[in-house]
Amino acid sequence: MTTSETQSPASGRRHGIDLARLAALTARERARFTERRTRSAALAREAAEHWLDGVPLHWMTDWGLPFPLFVAEAHGSTLTDVDGIAHVDFCLGDTGSMFGHAPAPVVAAIERQAARGMTAMMPSALVPEVGRMLAERFGLPRWQITMTASDANRSVIRWARAATGRPNILIFDGAYHGAVDDTHVRLKDGKPILRPGLMGQVWPLTEHTRVVQFNDEAALEAALADRSVALVLAEPVMTNIGMVLPEPGYHERLREITRRHGTLLAIDETHTISSGPGGYTRAHGLEPDFFVVGKPIAGGLPAAVWGFTEEVERAMRAARAATPGYSGMGTTLTANALALAAMRANLAEVMTAEAYAGMIAGAGRLAAALESVIARHGLPWVVTSVGARVEFMLSPTRPRTGGEAALIGDGEIEGALRLALIERGLVITPFHNMLLIAPSTTDADVDALVGALDALLGELVGG
Ligand SMILES: Cc1ncc(COP(=O)(O)O)c(C=O)c1O
Repeated sequence: MTTSETQSPASGRRHGIDLARLAALTARERARFTERRTRSAALAREAAEHWLDGVPLHWMTDWGLPFPLFVAEAHGSTLTDVDGIAHVDFCLGDTGSMFGHAPAPVVAAIERQAARGMTAMMPSALVPEVGRMLAERFGLPRWQITMTASDANRSVIRWARAATGRPNILIFDGAYHGAVDDTHVRLKDGKPILRPGLMGQVWPLTEHTRVVQFNDEAALEAALADRSVALVLAEPVMTNIGMVLPEPGYHERLREITRRHGTLLAIDETHTISSGPGGYTRAHGLEPDFFVVGKPIAGGLPAAVWGFTEEVERAMRAARAATPGYSGMGTTLTANALALAAMRANLAEVMTAEAYAGMIAGAGRLAAALESVIARHGLPWVVTSVGARVEFMLSPTRPRTGGEAALIGDGEIEGALRLALIERGLVITPFHNMLLIAPSTTDADVDALVGALDALLGELVGG
């Protein structure tokens, strides 16, 4: 069973919050959560017998709750736990269910395809159509499928090295691109180090992964100058260290510098797909060599895609011709018929321009309301949005780099707010206070979240 016992000093303030009040609120909400969720508590005790930390994936304990919330079912924006308590879900599986849980067209497509065979390691008849849809939507002509965005990024890194014949890659400090060994590197005092907490790593990742700060053109220029870097792997907006927005003109310069040094550019849209139907890339006219998106692309069924240009394809083919045999890429379940069917339905009927228009409008409403609540309570906090995604940060200013962003945040305050919101039937993401608006999220849902936060902050700020 997970616990995140939080202990506060008895007095003082942090980020505008009265710490004694925070401790009292946390104790009260933990007691309420435990009292009302007897079925989840019982399942947690039972699960502890055979699962590491009582869960099948350790991130499921990251919510800071007295024990995990076991889900009975989820539809649209509503997530109902095994105790029958309904919640409005603003986390949406950390983007995997960004278009709502169990979208009807995807459910129907999965049901149809499941009855006709799920995986055969041969292409299904939907392959040409889905390829066309991806090319039209995201603007790159060639595509491949993987099971997850982590897999997609691993493929892109390996292909980029093969296609360029260069050994190194570059990422931005504070980036997360999935469980991808090459990317678990951070910057400390100007030098790459292994990401703190990384377990079981025995070869030096820092040898072939360079790290610079986002928005720092001079550092990027210097890091690419020796022409040994195959790939820059970047989110268009950093989203995994809190959000870090690109400064005006940064993407143009990133593209110009990478091109000049013969380095390929991969844009990982796994979170920034919140920007619009074609991701941030289409919304802002970016010109990547590789494009990656996972999570919600098949409506919640595990699948990811990566696209690339014809020029990259030529280099990939040449590399493959020069190195026949097993490429080190691919997994047997990948691109199965079920994933293709779910993706087709999702792209055609769920992830539509109309859906995005409503989601982005809802996010705008939420961001404005959060800003006014924060201002009303006089808190030194800031709100950032990227399309249908909104976050509040416990900082008076937006960070310019991942290094700056890493210094922001307060697990105790954020954990208490998350717990108290869940207790009020409102689920927010356990990372960076991230809030997603699904097509099914209503204005009333947004008002309920803002109202609850307003009341909680009133209690925590005090007189
Ligand atoms: C930007 C980005 N890329 C890739 C991934 C990996 O996705 P997955 O865990 O589904 O493999 C994540 C996960 O959060 C991500 O945020």
